[in-house]
Amino acid sequence: MKKVTKAVFPVAGLGSRFLPATKASPKEMMPIVDKPLIQYAVEEAVAAGVTDLVFITGRSKRAIEDHFDKAYELETELENRGKTELLKIVRDTVPSHVNCIYIRQAEALGLGHAVLCAAPVVGEEPFAVLLADDLLDGEGAAPVMKQMVDVYNYNRCSVLGVMNVPLAQTRQYGIVSTERDVGDIQRVTGIVEKPKPEEAPSTQAVVGRYILTGRIFDHLRQLTPGAGGELQLTDAIASLLKEEAVLAYQFQGVRYDCGSKLGYLQATVELALKHPEVREEFAAFLAGRFGA
Ligand code: UTP
Repeated sequence: MKKVTKAVFPVAGLGSRFLPATKASPKEMMPIVDKPLIQYAVEEAVAAGVTDLVFITGRSKRAIEDHFDKAYELETELENRGKTELLKIVRDTVPSHVNCIYIRQAEALGLGHAVLCAAPVVGEEPFAVLLADDLLDGEGAAPVMKQMVDVYNYNRCSVLGVMNVPLAQTRQYGIVSTERDVGDIQRVTGIVEKPKPEEAPSTQAVVGRYILTGRIFDHLRQLTPGAGGELQLTDAIASLLKEEAVLAYQFQGVRYDCGSKLGYLQATVELALKHPEVREEFAAFLAGRFGA
């Protein structure tokens, strides 16, 4: 029985909605309180049992490589100053049993193309895909990728993380149709990228969490440009589900769209209100400011 041990992190997008912050550094390095978005996603994958992290990087890849690498100078400096807590934080960005692999996507041709770049490393195995600009908080339940791995282990087929969105927003997502619209695990019957509200088959939107079987690569290789002229992962999944079962899983937890300014600010406020170091003072600040 093949386990999900590999996770792909496409981090080669342009991040144009956050310019100029993303001019020289990927949007996945933007922090929510004190951790970059990519670290939240990596922690979620590691909590799900992943041991190989495959980053699909673009023009400003160094920041991500450096973040998960050993920082000799900084560690020596912190050690000399006796800052042991900070030293631990710096050393713990990735556990020692986990491998980091970097693959360059030469051109940002779309998410489907980014995932295809991982084929030489992933091979035939089932694997996870996490878009770090979607920050998912399990809110007391298991981390969302762990929930999805449990669904995969039981059903042995591809699993898409989905949530309901307002009808007016279907244009921002891949939208699935399913056999039934009750229950948290449904078989997908169709998937379409960024449909207009009047053409959307449902309001169940795929957020940035996928478990895919190795067969997806055959479908990614056949892709032609789709919505926005990009090679769309959604189109490859639409083709995959003609030959294999694909499940939609309504995860437990909350999703913040940190690829948009509003979602990013919402995540910052919500996670600051949970952060042990600042939550009390920050809550007092908000109460003073807004009378909450
Ligand atoms: P987005 O659709 O959010 O695009 O990509 P973007 O370029 O990152 O951001 P905007 O819209 O210009 O602000 C969804 C995910 O797919 C990755 C991105 O890094 C992001 O995690 N991606 C997208 C790639 O890795 N390569 C691509 O060619 C396209």
